[in-house]
Amino acid sequence: MNLNELKKKAAWAALDYIHPDTVIGVGTGTTIFYFIEALSTIKHLIYGAVSSSNSSTLLLQKQGIEVFDLKNFSSLRVYVDSADEINNHMQMIKGGGAALTREKIIATMSKKFICIIDNSKSVDVLGNFPLPIEIIPMALSYVSKEIIKIGGNPRYRKNVITDNGNIIIDVHDLYITDPISMEKKINSLPGVVTVGLFASRSADVLLIGTKNGIKTIKNSK
Ligand code: A5P
Repeated sequence: MNLNELKKKAAWAALDYIHPDTVIGVGTGTTIFYFIEALSTIKHLIYGAVSSSNSSTLLLQKQGIEVFDLKNFSSLRVYVDSADEINNHMQMIKGGGAALTREKIIATMSKKFICIIDNSKSVDVLGNFPLPIEIIPMALSYVSKEIIKIGGNPRYRKNVITDNGNIIIDVHDLYITDPISMEKKINSLPGVVTVGLFASRSADVLLIGTKNGIKTIKNSK
């Protein structure tokens, strides 16, 4: 079974966590593509969605799912998204698709974060996947210098402007043993909009697509 089939399995399993008559928070990426397809089959049961990126908004609208403006909501029942890496504490690296800031906003304001992955994304220690950071363009050199001080190797992601008009650096060579303090440290640098470490706001439920079916892990925090 290839990774896309495993992503698809996890995406369909997330439908069990959707409550009728609610607005669903929807993430971004290739796994979420399958989730939006799945969600369209029960669109008559929900009010609609709020979206973490322009690309997900287009996919949702194409499926006839109404997309609401997030600024009119202060909390949501459920957010469904994937991750680039996730550890045993359900802490994640996200932002491979450059949507990390909006993803973190929606994840944080949602009561439940359902993370859907194929089984290649589970790791013991975060950092093998380069850590994305969204920054204000003028802070590029300063933030890069500070990242080198903490042992990272920052690389500017060429030809990418985020939905918020900013740029991304991807930090290689980090071995993140304390994700919460790393998240705080990087977020405190002036010019950083969001770091793609989701440690303070970890996932609540993890649905892993495996060749033997869905493995479900619930966060005991
Ligand atoms: C988007 O910015 C990311 O956070 C994605 O959620 C994450 O990269 C996983 O994406 P895939 O489902 O494409 O692997």
